[in-house]
Amino acid sequence: MEPYLQTVSLCRYYRRGPHEVKALDNVSVAVNKGEYLALLGSSGSGKTTLLNLLAGLDTPTSGTVALEGSPLTGMSRRELSAYRARKVGMIFQSFNLISHYTALQNVEAALLFNGTPPAERRRASAAMLESLGLADRMTHRPGDLSGGEQQRVAVARAVVKRPEILFADEPTGNLDYDNSRSIAGLLQSLNAGGLTVVLVTHNHEMAQEYAHRTVRMQYGRVTGTDLAGATGGAL
Ligand SMILES: Nc1ncnc2c1ncn2[C@@H]1O[C@H](COP(=O)(O)OP(=O)(O)OP(=O)(O)O)[C@@H](O)[C@H]1O
Ligand SMILES: [Mg+2]
Repeated sequence: MEPYLQTVSLCRYYRRGPHEVKALDNVSVAVNKGEYLALLGSSGSGKTTLLNLLAGLDTPTSGTVALEGSPLTGMSRRELSAYRARKVGMIFQSFNLISHYTALQNVEAALLFNGTPPAERRRASAAMLESLGLADRMTHRPGDLSGGEQQRVAVARAVVKRPEILFADEPTGNLDYDNSRSIAGLLQSLNAGGLTVVLVTHNHEMAQEYAHRTVRMQYGRVTGTDLAGATGGAL
């Protein structure tokens, strides 16, 4: 079966004065529909850069990203917006919450551009926040929330529109054990319901426990792929 997303020889270079940073260097990976993929790698290895390209938020220096066989670079602006607005859920490493919106408004914003009627936007957003333990934080603005609470609002915003694929950039990086387990459990149940998940994590145990497959990165390159639970043999 054709992969849901596939990169071929993907490169993303940044120019810094006379220097060039090879944030991604010739990366060819596939993400299958329904898969739960964990992306591991040290700081600076290119994980966020790869997620942004897969989500259509950035354009490659060279190489391609294809969605069900169609290169993102060949899509019209409208098609690309539709991909981002309807199919992609993104939990950013830095949350990217809108500071003058309440928690509830931040989640509702994810439903603004996909045709959901206002009353349904509010109902679904409130229910999602409640399920993440934030029932009494809905009217707080991000500045009045703890780091872990902001992270949970970011999770709610990413999944409330029921995307086809979720990119989660260290979604438990700021959470304690119990909250990490509950986010991990939520992602697992969404995946069981058909959501494709690409999770960036430094937590090897979490990758082993939840992901179907792990991809390791170093210096902008993919250095290995393992089936989770396999004993280290690269595939
Ligand atoms: N806008 C930019 N301009 C120049 N260099 C950049 C830019 N964004 C990222 N880089 C560089 O590209 C490399 C990959 O960055 P990236 O954010 O993808 O790493 P990462 O694997 O997500 O790291 P972390 O685990 O710390 O989040 C790093 O060396 C980074 O400094
Ligand atoms: Mg990163």
